[in-house]
Amino acid sequence: MTYSRITGTGSYLPEKVVTNHDLEKTMETSDQWIRDRTGIKRRHIAADGETTSDLAVHAAEQAIDAAGIKVDDIDLIVVATTTPDKIFPATACTVQRKLGSSGCGAFDVQAVCSGFVYALDVADRHIRTGGGKTVLVIGAETLSRIVDWEDRTTAVLFGDGAGAVILQATDEQGIISTHIHSDGRHEELLHVPQGASQGYDQTRAGGAYIQMNGNAVFRKAVGALDSISRETLAGNNVAHGDLDWLVPHQANMRIITAAANKLRMPLERVIVTVDEHANTSAASIPLALDIAVRDGRIKRGQLVLLGAFGAGFTWGSALLRY
Ligand code: COA
Repeated sequence: MTYSRITGTGSYLPEKVVTNHDLEKTMETSDQWIRDRTGIKRRHIAADGETTSDLAVHAAEQAIDAAGIKVDDIDLIVVATTTPDKIFPATACTVQRKLGSSGCGAFDVQAVCSGFVYALDVADRHIRTGGGKTVLVIGAETLSRIVDWEDRTTAVLFGDGAGAVILQATDEQGIISTHIHSDGRHEELLHVPQGASQGYDQTRAGGAYIQMNGNAVFRKAVGALDSISRETLAGNNVAHGDLDWLVPHQANMRIITAAANKLRMPLERVIVTVDEHANTSAASIPLALDIAVRDGRIKRGQLVLLGAFGAGFTWGSALLRY
């Protein structure tokens, strides 16, 4: 039986740090309000000219090193992103070129903040059905480009970053199961209402920026994380007490705490990095995973649940033995 297993992780945050105190100087907000409502202290912002593919390549190089493989070993590159470098080609193709690779398949997955879990689902199935032996899965975003920096209700929440994993074929169980869901009826609660096909309204002052109903999204997010966790544990006959770690989408500390409480997971077994980099959408789960692997919290053989939710709405999970 062939399984897929994470053999290396990597991540990257741009150099420029914008703290809550920095934001106090440009908009009517406060460090206290942002920390109380979200747990966020700072976010990293890509430099001018630094694109999603640049961030992705840094994370990918770390993951490739950690897995001890060569770029030429990669059979498929999947990039989860909401902020591609260009409308086309796929950012995955740009990443492929920048890594010095050619020939293997490369495409993007767009499931907003659930993108990494969706990409992992595709990559795991690709390996298990014999499509390839080694897949590079990346979540990378430059959300700062689609944030309206004059809208305090959204600007304080988001940041830029990238995380990556190498997934490889193995006969030991790694990824145990993945689960993905979507409900397009709630599209307008969280969206960028412009785009290539719908058109860009050049007359609107706002431009192509994130719009959100924060309260409604908050409730949906907690519910989605709760239901996906229950579905995943029940589907695998695993009790919440068997889990070593929960790695949730890093959107808001209050959402993470509520979801962990419902799952009866003590916060000591929940990986939290949102304070350091805010919501980096598709990058947030692989970033948190890499940070916890590198600081020694997540160890080989441990049982880890990844849980995501995002615009769409989309939500999903992966249960894995690291
Ligand atoms: N600084 C200071 N005050 C702010 C502010 C900011 N950055 N943003 C909003 N406010 C104000 C509001 O204007 C409002 O003022 P009012 O009472 O005078 O009208 C007040 O704070 C409360 O706003 P509200 O929206 O009710 O706050 P909240 O407690 O619901 O928190 C969010 C707002 C956005 C932090 C919260 O709804 C949330 O986290 N939602 C989920 C967002 C998310 O994770 N999205 C991504 C999903 S992938």
